Amino acid sequence: MEDKQIVRQFTQNAFELKNHLAQFLSIESVELDKFLKNAKMELANLHPGDNLFDCADFYKDIVGDKHLADLAAWHISSKEYIADTLRLQQNFSKDLVLDFGGGIGTHALANAMSDRVEHVFFVDINKTNREFVEYRSKNLGLEKKLSFYNSIEETKISKFDTIVCLDVLEHLEDPSNQIKNFHKIMKDESIAILNWYFFKGENNEYPFHVDAEDVVSTFFRVLQENFIEVFHPLLITARSYRKFN
Ligand SMILES: C[S@@+](CC[C@H](N)C(=O)[O-])C[C@H]1O[C@@H](n2cnc3c(N)ncnc32)[C@H](O)[C@@H]1O
Repeated sequence: MEDKQIVRQFTQNAFELKNHLAQFLSIESVELDKFLKNAKMELANLHPGDNLFDCADFYKDIVGDKHLADLAAWHISSKEYIADTLRLQQNFSKDLVLDFGGGIGTHALANAMSDRVEHVFFVDINKTNREFVEYRSKNLGLEKKLSFYNSIEETKISKFDTIVCLDVLEHLEDPSNQIKNFHKIMKDESIAILNWYFFKGENNEYPFHVDAEDVVSTFFRVLQENFIEVFHPLLITARSYRKFN
């Protein structure tokens, strides 16, 4: 499918997101609207604060289907912003694509729709998210172009042509280590599409975001030492990078 058509389909109904959610969760549309309405603060309230031993435990064991609701509400209410992130990835995506922390699958599904993409490797630590996106891929007839993993190692791919990691780095214990890992699995001509939001919010809406000064400054040092930005004209926070050394 052509890039413009992919983005248009997203802006029409977010790739049938609400239908998929209602079917996957077996809930009526009235209940679904309630489920989506309070999603952001419900997710925030689940966070155990300083009692959390490892950041990853939150996404693996605690969020349940609350993260689906939070992400769905966000993708529906911020359609134009998400559409721009799709325009960005469609500009670069080709061949073997890694979507790391793929969430509800908007970007992975859009990449799977592209004729330039051979296969999308969807990696997410959250089992419900993986199962939901697998369900969506079948529903959209894209199942041959997507596969689902708990970690990058499980994919058994040594080099990817495109890496998409959107709104994930701030959720990791060690974001610098993650981009060092990306560096190892990129070819010289590969592109990584990244963004981050190292901020817990004005009212602690994002208690799960990492904001420690030392972690953030190390992240920027590692980014600048290892990657060079490839300019794109979209007015969004996501950036595109090649390997620098
Ligand atoms: C805020 S969501 C972003 C989802 C999606 N990329 C988007 O832009 O909508 C963060 C995602 O990262 C996943 N995640 C968190 N820690 C992870 C880890 N260590 N490995 C893989 N996925 C992780 C979460 O389960 C969640 O789906």
